[in-house]
Formats: sequence, structure tokens, C-alpha cells
Amino acid sequence: MTVLQVMSDADAEQVVLRTTDPEVIGAELARRGIVFDRWPLPADQHAATEDILADYASRIGDLNAEGRYRHIDVARIHPDEDDPAWPDTAAAARGKFLAEHRHAEDEVRFFAGGRGCFYLHLDGEVVAVVCEAGDLVSVPAGTKHWFDMGVRPDFLAIRFFEEADGWVGDFTGDRIGESFPTLDELLAA
Ligand SMILES: [Fe+2]
Repeated sequence: MTVLQVMSDADAEQVVLRTTDPEVIGAELARRGIVFDRWPLPADQHAATEDILADYASRIGDLNAEGRYRHIDVARIHPDEDDPAWPDTAAAARGKFLAEHRHAEDEVRFFAGGRGCFYLHLDGEVVAVVCEAGDLVSVPAGTKHWFDMGVRPDFLAIRFFEEADGWVGDFTGDRIGESFPTLDELLAA
């Protein structure tokens, strides 16, 4: 379930808006300068990377018509409860971008499977967007944000980068993310 929850950046309990209506979500994000789109789901979530990219070749071509994104890849993580290292793998993956940071370029992600939540720290507000399979979001360059993949990370995402090191995060040192509901809490609300 795609969820948009807008809160005061000074108080997570002050929920200004919560909606699961994709049209409202698109409109609310658009007026904040954030691209949100919905693409069809892949035929097979577990297909090989090249097949996933081939599946979306035409949409990727449209999005990248100007050749802005020179590196397009597929990131995936799926729970493997049989692997004794899974809890550590999950915690390490989750922890990577859980603190507030920004990037020198837009963070563009299409969720072909699973889910993840972006928290955008804008002017006086925190805009949480729980993205589900089929959602595409672009966090503008320089926007303070953080990302929660939840206690059980599970997603398949096509990522678009302008530079090979476009994923590098500039961490702000602000621990604001700790005061806001997690992905799992947002979905349970
Ligand atoms: Fe990021």
C-alpha cells in the first residue's frame, strides 16, 4: 500500500495529511517539486537483472530521453531466513541510509517489487512516502532525506544515476529520523 504522510518537522505526532490515494499522493508531491509516477509491474520479480531492464526498456528510454542517466542498475534485497547471516545483512542494509543525508544528484528509484519509505525533510515538514511495487519517485538533488527499508528489507528497484558515485550520501549529522515513524509503523497505522 502506497502511503503519503506529511508531518511537522518539529513534531512527528502532528500529522498534517495521511493518504493512500495515488492521485492525491502524486498531486501533493508534484506541488513540492517531487516526481512521482506509477509504472506497470514486471512479469517476473525474480527475473535476471538484464531481463528486468529489458522489460522496462521503453519506459527507461522515455525517462532518460536526454541521456541524463549514464548508470542504470537494479538493486534487490530479499529476506533469506535460512541464511544465518540474514539478520546482520538486513540490519546493515537498513542502517545505510537511515540517517538524514542528501545527494549531489536526484535520487531516482522505480520499485518493481517490495517496498521502501523515503522521508523528505522539506520546509517545516517531513513528507514520508511509502513506495510499493509500481511506484517511481525522484528525490531532488540537495533535498535532505532518509530511507527506511524496514525490519525485513525486501525490494527490487531500478536506480538511475548521473555519475558512477551518485549514490554517495552527504550525511547531515541530524538525528531527526529517529523521532519519526518507521516504515513498519507507517504501514501498521
Ligand atoms: Fe538517499
